[in-house]
Amino acid sequence: MEHIKNYIDQHKDRFLEELFSLIRIPSVSASPEHKEDMVRATEALSKGLLEAGADRAEVYSTEGHPILFAEKILDPALPTVLVYGHYDVQPADPVEKWKSPPFEPEIRDGKIYARGADDDKGQLFMHLKAFELMIKTSSLPCNVKFMIEGEEEVGSPNLGKFCSDHKDMLACDVILVSDTTMIAPDIPSITVGLRGLSYLEVEVTGPNRDLHSGLYGGAVANPASMLCKMIASLTDEKNRITIKGFYDDVLEVSQEERAEMAKRPFDLEEFKQSIGIDREMGEEGYTTLERLGIRPSLDVNGIWGGYTEKGAKTILPSRASAKISMRLVPNQNSRKIDRLFEEHFKSIAPAGVNVSVKSLHGGEGYVSPIDTPEYQAASRAMEDTFGKKPIPVRSGGSIPIISTFEKVLGVKSILLGFGLDSDAIHSPNENFPLFNFYKGIETIPLFYKYFSEMKK
Ligand code: BES
Ligand code: MN
Ligand code: MN
Repeated sequence: MEHIKNYIDQHKDRFLEELFSLIRIPSVSASPEHKEDMVRATEALSKGLLEAGADRAEVYSTEGHPILFAEKILDPALPTVLVYGHYDVQPADPVEKWKSPPFEPEIRDGKIYARGADDDKGQLFMHLKAFELMIKTSSLPCNVKFMIEGEEEVGSPNLGKFCSDHKDMLACDVILVSDTTMIAPDIPSITVGLRGLSYLEVEVTGPNRDLHSGLYGGAVANPASMLCKMIASLTDEKNRITIKGFYDDVLEVSQEERAEMAKRPFDLEEFKQSIGIDREMGEEGYTTLERLGIRPSLDVNGIWGGYTEKGAKTILPSRASAKISMRLVPNQNSRKIDRLFEEHFKSIAPAGVNVSVKSLHGGEGYVSPIDTPEYQAASRAMEDTFGKKPIPVRSGGSIPIISTFEKVLGVKSILLGFGLDSDAIHSPNENFPLFNFYKGIETIPLFYKYFSEMKK
């Protein structure tokens, strides 16, 4: 595949410059003050796709941030690949923890440092450049569609409707997504599972005002203390979740499949060292990889209430809150889990406090089979460029819209991710190695080639 390597070689600096201009647009979907930046990002992408050779590119407004659709139809009789990605990024805070400004991309030690360098601007941009490469070298073997959204990081609230409203426009044979990780630069892998998500906010309220803790303490239920007790009781001594019915729909993975999973290289010491902990923790009876890939989990994302400023203030707070999320496995339903959580949480409220529960967002998990033409095409493509057959792995992360694609469009997705766990996505100093960026551009055209050949 000399034409691929040659094209990348001749244009590699321009590819980077173009990616950098996209990264410089601070398209943070969670912050209303970036509304205009979201529009600018779609315009930049739309221009890029038209210059690369798309027949048309159109920006669709939604109740939230716009969605970009573009396509190149060679012949309706040929197979069609639909590329999905997101141009929105997570907020950059805490900004003071960044070594270089989050929206001014910088290369250090062979890595691009910036918010969105990996998630998902860097990974999405590989697809734009692979598309350009196939057009300019006359090697595009099939039709291509792009659907790029700006609300993935806030739960894709408008994309499901967009899909059901535009089923014909989005018709395709496979959805191709680069928004996940691989094991290591020398250990290629393909993600075949994603976890679902159920995200809630709870509030515990007690007395009608903050009270003097000497005049009332010991005689009145303290909402902050009660919230802590309630949260602590959500998992037991085996680190299993205690919500009634929580595990009912969890599919147990067979011993054979677990044995297969265990063959995947994983260094527990390095895992612990990379995040600065001396001991891992999780559900009894499962390994760390199983806890992440095939088991659900529950985490407090934030907790607040009462006096948190400097010094001491002797009060008994009138209210306390927490944000709690649960990662779910395939076959669990996020709405049902929301309901079970709410019933359970209310049932364990001690006398003297009231509890309210609000669902923030959620979505379902995903598994993809490996005996399909699309998986085989992805596997062959990676084997060609990395020199090793990729390992199928289940990831602990979530991209809830992937299960919606299957439900609404009836099409499976291939999660061909080139990120690394060490890319610090959602954290300060997010980065994406140049090696992975260029390898992605090299691998994607091979996926198109093998997929089109197998679909003939
Ligand atoms: N790209 C990530 C998801 C991801 C990363 C999956 C690495 C597998 C490996 C995506 O942008 C993301 O952050 N998803 C959110 C879910 C969303 C509903 C906010 C997540 O997993 O927290
Ligand atoms: Mn992402
Ligand atoms: Mn993300």
